[in-house]
Amino acid sequence: MDWRFAPLAGYVLGAAALAIVLVKLKSRIELSRAKHPSLTGHARLARRFATLVPAYSYDESRFFCADDAPAEIAAARREGFFRLSQLFHERFPRSLRLTAQARESLPDLQFTSTYRVPFQFSRFVNQHLPIGAFMEASSGVMLTDLDGNRFYDLAGSYGVNVLGTDFYKACLEESQKRVARLGPVLGPYHPVVAANVKRLCALSGFDAVSFHMSGTEAVMQAVRLARYLTRRSHLVRFCGAYHGWWGDVQPGVGNPVPARETYTLADLSERSLRVLRHRRDIACVLVNPLQALHPNANAPGDSTLIDSARGARFDRAAYGEWLKRLRTVCSERGIVLIFDEVFVGFRIARGGAQEYFGVEADMVIYGKTLGGGLPVGVICGRKDLMRRFRDDRPLDICFARGTFNSHPYVMAAMDAFLTHLESPAISAFYDGLDKTWNARAAALNRRLEEARLPLHVANLSTIWTVCYTTPSRYNWMLQYYLRAEGLALSWVGTGRLIFSLNYTQADFDAVADRFVAAASAMQRDGWWWNDGATTNQSIRRRVLQETIAHRFPLLQARR
Ligand SMILES: Cc1ncc(COP(=O)(O)O)c(C=O)c1O
Repeated sequence: MDWRFAPLAGYVLGAAALAIVLVKLKSRIELSRAKHPSLTGHARLARRFATLVPAYSYDESRFFCADDAPAEIAAARREGFFRLSQLFHERFPRSLRLTAQARESLPDLQFTSTYRVPFQFSRFVNQHLPIGAFMEASSGVMLTDLDGNRFYDLAGSYGVNVLGTDFYKACLEESQKRVARLGPVLGPYHPVVAANVKRLCALSGFDAVSFHMSGTEAVMQAVRLARYLTRRSHLVRFCGAYHGWWGDVQPGVGNPVPARETYTLADLSERSLRVLRHRRDIACVLVNPLQALHPNANAPGDSTLIDSARGARFDRAAYGEWLKRLRTVCSERGIVLIFDEVFVGFRIARGGAQEYFGVEADMVIYGKTLGGGLPVGVICGRKDLMRRFRDDRPLDICFARGTFNSHPYVMAAMDAFLTHLESPAISAFYDGLDKTWNARAAALNRRLEEARLPLHVANLSTIWTVCYTTPSRYNWMLQYYLRAEGLALSWVGTGRLIFSLNYTQADFDAVADRFVAAASAMQRDGWWWNDGATTNQSIRRRVLQETIAHRFPLLQARR
């Protein structure tokens, strides 16, 4: 070696190292800039923050005036609250008794009943205003509880109920008959599996199908396949989007460990497209088209309704345009574009989001309603993306099994679902679907406005969310007034009302009447009192102050 060149070699190596560091830094900065500025957009920070928030509850004296309302308003609220409490105990005794018993050993029920409302109010609400967790019967668009009370079903079985509960009952009955001779034999397929594959290929426009037991599992497998095929590590999800409860798609609050191979990017953002264009470790992009109703926000539950900042507005054209741009970037970069249509599939259009927004994905995940009333998750995709082994590397496989995959009863119920989907009666539901439901939302909003009630609804077809217009700490109370009027919501409360397509105009009018009556009663009881100075910001500031005071009690004592 000629040592005269040693300094030069050192400079060259140093420059190369610097260039690599700069490129990495640029990429890192690009990634940071593509995050949504909210806490939801910063999964790790959100998890850390969640571990710092201390528990505290309002006692009776504070519960009715957490916003410093004057005594007469607090008294009206107290009267309204205990009137509801009495009504619930008189009207729902059996439902409430069984709920209290079951709650003891059912952590799922403990969770949902605790997180119906913001945690500061939860203990008092649970003590006096429990909600029955049981139902006995369903018919049309109604549910009947253990005490014989009938409710309009706005919970929609978490989105499964697209076509009305009677429809699924028929699917289940047919499925029993169809596979009764084979029974619950697993491993060998019932011929109905082949029929479903054929139908799903035609419906989705793809040429391969994979059956799983839940939406969560199907998402897991779709991502695994994308990683296997591309040999890249990371998945991209958009801020706020729900894709089931598997760790990699739930990097924020709710998951005890960090998801290290997930990027959470801002929805509808040029900066996110930039990241997709430049990074080389992205295997797939997951899209939940339901986010079009509230981009970059979590599914709106009443437990986080601490003020009136919840917003929602669906812009079909803008979201469709965004999906087209995503499509282009993913095609350019060899990134697998996955539509997670577990929620919206078959609901917004028969051909789902692909048809509705006019954009083709590389894989589509269905679930919920497609099972015809039974649990399921399905991936439809391009054959080359769905293959679980390589011809040239026999040991390099992408393993995915599942004892109950392609269960005969599920497959037969799915077959019934897909068969009836083509019937004239069901087809009629999809004619002018958006027009019908947008008109219904607009009609309800008109009535709310005429009655000078501080709320309105926003909708993506039959999926609705309630938004509040006067800054308030008590909007979550509406779910109890709605219950009293015979409207059944899921545990997430007014964040998500889900209608089935078989709601007639008369059914809907009855719901609207009850909705307005519930909101009017809530207003009369003073829950929406505002001193004219309270804003959403001031409410948040106040809650933050309370939180800090409970986290650092000594600090408070020293003041
Ligand atoms: C878009 C989306 N993906 C995945 C899932 C998970 O499906 P499952 O609850 O069947 O596991 C859900 C459930 O709500 C969902 O809405």
